[in-house]
Amino acid sequence: MNRAPKFYRPVWAEIDHRNLKSNFLKIKAELSSKTRILAVVKANAYGHGLIPVSRTLSRLGAKFLGVTSIEESLALQSAGIRTPSLILANIFPFSNLAVAVRKGIRVSAASVESALQCEKYAKRLKKKVYVHAKIDTGMGRVGVNARNATAFIEKIRSLRSVVLEGIYTHFSSAYEDPAATQDQIRIFTGLLDDLSSRGFDIPYIHDANSGGIFLYPKAQFSLVRPGISLYGVWPAPLKRSLGLRPVLSWKSRIIYLKGVPAGTPISYAGTFITQRPSVIATAAFGYADGFRRSFSNKAQVLAGGKRVPVVGRVTMDMTMLDVTDAPGVRVGDEVVILGSQGNASLPAEDLARWAETSPYEIFCGIHPRVPRVDIP
Ligand SMILES: Cc1ncc(COP(=O)(O)O)c(C=O)c1O
Repeated sequence: MNRAPKFYRPVWAEIDHRNLKSNFLKIKAELSSKTRILAVVKANAYGHGLIPVSRTLSRLGAKFLGVTSIEESLALQSAGIRTPSLILANIFPFSNLAVAVRKGIRVSAASVESALQCEKYAKRLKKKVYVHAKIDTGMGRVGVNARNATAFIEKIRSLRSVVLEGIYTHFSSAYEDPAATQDQIRIFTGLLDDLSSRGFDIPYIHDANSGGIFLYPKAQFSLVRPGISLYGVWPAPLKRSLGLRPVLSWKSRIIYLKGVPAGTPISYAGTFITQRPSVIATAAFGYADGFRRSFSNKAQVLAGGKRVPVVGRVTMDMTMLDVTDAPGVRVGDEVVILGSQGNASLPAEDLARWAETSPYEIFCGIHPRVPRVDIP
C-alpha cells in the first residue's frame, strides 16, 4: 500500500481495498474453477489508482492485468508488480513494440501486419513475444474480422518468435442488447470450434467483460476481463442483486458558510437566486477536480448526513451548496460527492445520470490533482 499522500486542500478520494477484495471474490464465485481473471486496470484503474489497486488484485490472484499503454505496463513493472500485463489496445506506432518485447509486455495482435511486426521486433531482440489475437465479432473498433480470423491465426502459428497465448473478442452491448451479445458469442464460439478442429489449443480464450460474466455464463472461457464490477459498479438495470461494493468515495469539506436573505444571487451569472433566507455553504471542489460544470443547479451532495443541492454554477475550485435544510452543518464538515454518509448514499450512477454519461466516465474524470487515499 502506498503511504497516505499529504495534502492540504480538502478534496480527496478514498479507495477501499476491502471492498475491492470483496468484489474480486464475488466475481470469482461466478466462475468455473478453470476460469482465471484478467483484471482491467487501464486508465489509472478507472481513476482508482493504478498501482495500489493492481497490487491488491495481483495478491488476490489475478492472472493478468489489462492495461491500455506501455506507460501503464512499465509503471506496474517499476512498482514491482509481477503479474503480467496485457495491452488491450492496438499497438501504435509499431516501433513501440521494441519496448514491449524487451520488457516482456503482452500485446494484442489486431491485424496480420501487427503480428508480422511482433515477429520482426522479437526476432531482432532474439526474444519471444506473447500475443493475444484480437478478433472483431461486432464491436467495430479494432481486431481482425471473425470472417478472416482462421487465416489470421494460421499466419500467427507460422511465426517463430510469436507465442499465441490468447485469443479474444469484446462485446459491444453486454449491458444493453442480449440479441447482439448472443450473436457475438455465437460468432466467437464458431471460430473457436473451427480452430480446435484445426488442432489449435490456445491457452487463454476470453470475451467477457463484467456484463458478460454476470449475464452470459456461456461466455466464460479460460479467462474473463472484469473492469467496472471490480470497482463495485454495475452499469445496467439490475438483473439480480450482485452484492458489489463501491470502492471509491469522493470527499471534500465545507470551507465557508454564510446566512443570506431571500433574493441573493449565488455564483457566476447568478443562475441561482435564493427564494428564502438561506444558509449557503462553499465546499473545496470544482470542475477542475472533475465535478462537472453541467452539475450546476442539478446535482446533490451529502452534507450533515443528507442530500443537499448544488446551487449556482460550479466554479473551477469551489462549489456552493444550499444547506438550509441540513441544520447543524459547520465549516470543516465533510461533504461526500460520491459515496455515503450515515444512512445517506450517493452512487456513481446518480452522478452519471446528472451528467448524462456513464459511471466509467465519472470515475475517469476525477482529476489526478485529487489525491487518492488508500484504505487497506
Ligand atoms: C477490451 C476490454 N475488456 C474488458 C473491459 C472491461 O469492461 P467492464 O468495465 O465493462 O467490465 C474493457 C473496458 O473498457 C475493455 O475495453
